[in-house]
Amino acid sequence: MSLPKSAYLSDVWRDGIFNNKVIFCTGGAGSICSAQVRAMVHLGANACIVGRNVEKTERVAKDIATARSGAKVLGIGAVDVRNFDSLKAAVDKCVKELGGVDFVIAGAAGNFLASIDQLSVNAFKSVMDIDVLGSFNTLKATVPHLLESAAKHKSDGETPSPTGTGGRIIFVSATIHYTAMALQTHVSVAKAGVDSLSNSVAIEFGPRGITSNVIAPGPIKDTEGINRLARAQDVAARHAQVPLGRYGTVKEVADATVYIFSDSGNFVNGSTVVVDGAAWRNHSTDVGSGFQYPDFLISGEEVTGVSGLKKQSKI
Ligand code: COA
Repeated sequence: MSLPKSAYLSDVWRDGIFNNKVIFCTGGAGSICSAQVRAMVHLGANACIVGRNVEKTERVAKDIATARSGAKVLGIGAVDVRNFDSLKAAVDKCVKELGGVDFVIAGAAGNFLASIDQLSVNAFKSVMDIDVLGSFNTLKATVPHLLESAAKHKSDGETPSPTGTGGRIIFVSATIHYTAMALQTHVSVAKAGVDSLSNSVAIEFGPRGITSNVIAPGPIKDTEGINRLARAQDVAARHAQVPLGRYGTVKEVADATVYIFSDSGNFVNGSTVVVDGAAWRNHSTDVGSGFQYPDFLISGEEVTGVSGLKKQSKI
């Protein structure tokens, strides 16, 4: 389904700023990452998105390609970011078919609601592996190409590089670990690790021209994350908790992406761009899905549908 530009990109950016560039994105079939990639493709880039689900990844890639006539978008399924070899093979295919990797979005993530009581060791490890190890694997598999691109597209901050920008990575994180959130311990710990990884990349690879930044989306409407965390009947109340009075849109995350990857982001490195309407500063006691803190913890009520603890007894 071809989307109108207004669904994923503001009018402030100039067409063609990412001509002859390639973006590689993990978790690229998801609602937020697909908008980020779609925006880059609209502005000239070709793209490769990878994901675990073959049908979904291929279908979304075809759909993203409708953002610009002549765009090439590869969709490579059956890629699990926890498996370095499968990720490396996808990067190799991207480079062979599209000519390189100039920009990377490490977006693959795992999420579900569960209290620590309900969280098995393996469930915790799964999210750590997807988010932290998966982000590290994504970096390791793409960094030789990012270095190459960074060397070709240097900016002194005064004269824009005639060939545009390149050699940049964005890690998609969250805001829940700035405070803490019950039922999201595994995700909070993992996202803290992702932020830390980005900061280290910024200082280790900055001298070689790579920039590394985090985008931390808050509550974004029509995404898997917010649909899981908030029940429909909570929406009005949850909007009211966001200082800007609403959920964000995937377009607003895509705009932040273009800001970081384009000439406007030349000196932005080791930063976090929070796109959340200041929601995290107004921390709520409602953790989502109607679980009111701390009543549900004291009552012993459990999150229903939790699939963990099959091999392990509850604490
Ligand atoms: N609550 C508690 N534990 C859960 C769970 C839930 N809702 N869902 C999965 N787990 C546990 C499993 O029971 C298993 O632990 P166990 O071996 O002790 O039973 C462990 O997590 C791994 O689950 P499994 O389904 O085998 O792993 P996976 O690697 O295929 O799945 C997850 C990864 C766990 C992140 C899964 O939730 C998932 O694939 N989610 C979809 C992607 C996603 O979350 N995207 C985020 C968008 S915001």
